[in-house]
Amino acid sequence: MKLPARGLDRDAVLEKLETYRGRDLPWRNGRSFGIAFDGGREVESVCREALARFAYDNALDPTAIPSARRLDMEVVGIVTEKLGGGPGVTGNCTSGGTESILLAVKAARERHRRLKPRAGRPEILMPRTAHAAFRKAASYFDLDVVETEVDPATFLADAGAMRKAVTERTALLVGSAPCWPYGVVDPIPELGRLALEKDIPLHVDACVGGFLLPYFRRLGATFPEFGFGVPGVTSVSVDLHKFAFVPKGVSVLLHRDADFRRGQTYVCADWPGYTIFNPTVQSSRSVGPLAAAWAALHFLGDEGYLEMARQELEGMRRLIEGIRAIPALEVLGRPDFALVAAKSDSVDVFHVADELQKRGWDVPVQLRCHDLPASLHFLVTPVNARLIPQMVSDLRPAVEAARGLPKGRLEGALTDLLASVDPDEPHGKLVSRLFSLAGIEGTELPERRAPVWELLEALPPEVRREIVGEFMNLLYTPEACPAQSG
Ligand SMILES: Cc1ncc(COP(=O)(O)O)c(C=O)c1O
Repeated sequence: MKLPARGLDRDAVLEKLETYRGRDLPWRNGRSFGIAFDGGREVESVCREALARFAYDNALDPTAIPSARRLDMEVVGIVTEKLGGGPGVTGNCTSGGTESILLAVKAARERHRRLKPRAGRPEILMPRTAHAAFRKAASYFDLDVVETEVDPATFLADAGAMRKAVTERTALLVGSAPCWPYGVVDPIPELGRLALEKDIPLHVDACVGGFLLPYFRRLGATFPEFGFGVPGVTSVSVDLHKFAFVPKGVSVLLHRDADFRRGQTYVCADWPGYTIFNPTVQSSRSVGPLAAAWAALHFLGDEGYLEMARQELEGMRRLIEGIRAIPALEVLGRPDFALVAAKSDSVDVFHVADELQKRGWDVPVQLRCHDLPASLHFLVTPVNARLIPQMVSDLRPAVEAARGLPKGRLEGALTDLLASVDPDEPHGKLVSRLFSLAGIEGTELPERRAPVWELLEALPPEVRREIVGEFMNLLYTPEACPAQSG
């Protein structure tokens, strides 16, 4: 694409932009149980306006734009109060869960270097269910990840296994409230005791559920404490762009006190340009997302979030009941929050997802990982919760249709293909042979995704990583941009 020689008028620009959405997932229709944290059109409209009004303001220098700092600190204050934080608790808004986790890990690494300079390469000790962002942080900031098994029935972190894995190099312990794959809240008080005993920071990843879980508790749900009321918890991340229904770009990272935050921030006062003091990874950044977060919190208020939580909790219970009534499916663990995973021993869940897609539902899958089975993964929101009875009534025939479809079709072909690999074969050629085995043409995924998931599951992890990386490289080339429908 080239820059137009002469600018278009406002309406033409906006109209053209809208045509780009032609192939996007229609997530506003309530039929998506995937990536849309949809709180409905009312809160969206208020946030949209707040975002637009502050879009061009730069949070780079909070002394020049004090509104940026005020919005940041007021949002931090609201989240601190929700998580039982006292006066010493401090923190910042970041651009999302990953950034909050990156910064929590960086802060822990700096602390470890300071207190145990001779301990060697620092480690993050975490249950297998901890979010991939911790692995990303380890790879960015040069730490190792030590992973412990979770309980095979409850999918909860095993504090005993973590205790055994602690070494001099352990720089950070991690627990989730809840974990993304199964929606269960780890035994944070037990992890807190371990953290205190060994004097190691404990980060609670409450990115997905941290904001609404206190409301779930008010509605009668029971699960372990996970906030600053738990001795030993030193930092907590809570994403507002998930279940606080704020547009993308806002998470909150809190520390028990300013000392734990020290390693999070970056200062540079010895280069020829302006003095840099950043609490986040980004330097120049829009105030828009902060304004949108503040707007959502004030628009919905305590009562509004309680009502959202009630809809989610009821939706989650109805969904679990509906899945349990289908003998071929099994809910994994006992979800505490609005994330429900279901496996099957008799049908291929990848085919079930395809059959649901044929019936107009978007339900993602999770691949098998070590001993953890492949599963369907449902994210319940106040909007899709209303359609759960319809979704469940389509789930039953989807399972029946999947029963007739073959499982493990690619295995033989893949074994043959991998056996025939010539070590001198150009890398790209092998990748394209693997792609075509799964029905991937260029960057177009097949309508039915089961062969793609099957292929990824069957590949050794290092090959899997490579081919996903290669696919991403191809996706992000100008030539691969999809033609739009408009
Ligand atoms: C528990 C948990 N932590 C971290 C993240 C990463 O958040 P983000 O996608 O905002 O970077 C997610 C995302 O779903 C999550 O569920």
